[in-house]
Amino acid sequence: MNHFELLDGELACEGVPLAVIAEAVGTPVYVYSSATLERHYTVLRDALTGAGLKDPLIAFAVKANSNVAVLRTLARLGAGADVVSEGEIRRALAAGVPPERMVFSGVGKTEAEVEFAVETGVGEINVEAEPELHLINRVAQRLGKRADIAFRVNPDVAAGGHAKISTGKSENKFGVSFSEAERLYANAANMAGVRPVGVTCHIGSQITDLAPLEAAFIKMRGLVERIRREGLTLERLDLGGGLGVPYFNSPTPPSPDDYAAMIGRVMAGLDIQFAFEPGRMICANAGVLLARALHVHERPEGRRFLVIDAAMNDLLRPAMYDAYHDIRPVKPRRDESAAYDVVGPICETGDTFTRDRVLPVLEAGDLLAFMSAGAYGASMSSEYNSRLLIPEVLVRGDQFAVVRARPTYDDMLDRERSAPWL
Ligand code: LLP
Repeated sequence: MNHFELLDGELACEGVPLAVIAEAVGTPVYVYSSATLERHYTVLRDALTGAGLKDPLIAFAVKANSNVAVLRTLARLGAGADVVSEGEIRRALAAGVPPERMVFSGVGKTEAEVEFAVETGVGEINVEAEPELHLINRVAQRLGKRADIAFRVNPDVAAGGHAKISTGKSENKFGVSFSEAERLYANAANMAGVRPVGVTCHIGSQITDLAPLEAAFIKMRGLVERIRREGLTLERLDLGGGLGVPYFNSPTPPSPDDYAAMIGRVMAGLDIQFAFEPGRMICANAGVLLARALHVHERPEGRRFLVIDAAMNDLLRPAMYDAYHDIRPVKPRRDESAAYDVVGPICETGDTFTRDRVLPVLEAGDLLAFMSAGAYGASMSSEYNSRLLIPEVLVRGDQFAVVRARPTYDDMLDRERSAPWL
């Protein structure tokens, strides 16, 4: 469910017509709904607690939407943060996420990042490979601290909507095997710079079937029990694999209630603190990319291109994963429809959002919204073709605020320097 609906015949975000935002801020622009963000967070939290998981840590995956105002909206509800870089830790801090509610994942943390995380007091640093364990131990000892760590296990379960976003097979770069996890956990318990607190897994993103999640979680429970049988303390189980969202033409994902009930069943009787790292399911349907049609270009052989002012640098998912985003005209006033290739201005054919999509007839100047663009939209954008990063707007009720400003061309050029020989 989301809060982008027709209001007096025009698409609006909560109480604000998208055309009003386009007029005030210009296009292209990302627009987010506070109500949808809050609803998705609370629905998940209530489903998990309803299934008997007491006080779960819901660490929002900052990579999905890194805007500080979005993070703050969630932090105010009690969300933690799943972070994968110093930049994301800094964003989460800026949003008011307490460091002890942060989980630091990622296969290649630099020494400087580990140092920053340990100094900051990040609540869980996930070890994804043996050398990282030694790095964290060394850095923490140098700082006179003991870092709370968890081991990321690769459960060797395939899942995820696309090969590029599947993370849980042993051929993927993430995490250690079950046997390594047991060995390293026991070693870590004797190290002065680390304190092992738990185990974690993440098998992929846009998962629309509970079976692979259940298979992975059963294996994780077994691991917890084996480690505890060794007499070691294990307080936290961090269960990853991101539930999918409905992208209009995609398989219907399981409901949060069904997901939570499955976890309640698999984990029945296990006394542990649960953590989750959802990104997409919280924010995808809370955001749209709002763009304007520049012109329609009809080729003699019959293709009809709708050229818009947004491009693959603003929303990379269609070019990168062949992702489908529903496209809705902001003022759906025409009865006739036509098939369009919707393309951006970038100089490569990959800058195609969709081919042969049947849409209500559109013309130059019309506004259109790419739905479900609140996750991995702005956070994956770039300045390719020297296009400026686009602004982000957060709506709450009938108010809106620009929460990331559109930079100027001077901002872009001021970062660059000449070389002494030029
Ligand atoms: N935790 C870890 C360790 C992850 O690797 C990911 C996603 C998440 C949490 C959040 O997963 P989610 O709940 O959003 O499914 N750029 C791609 C998605 C890449 C996901 C990578 N890891 C896309 O646009 O589809």
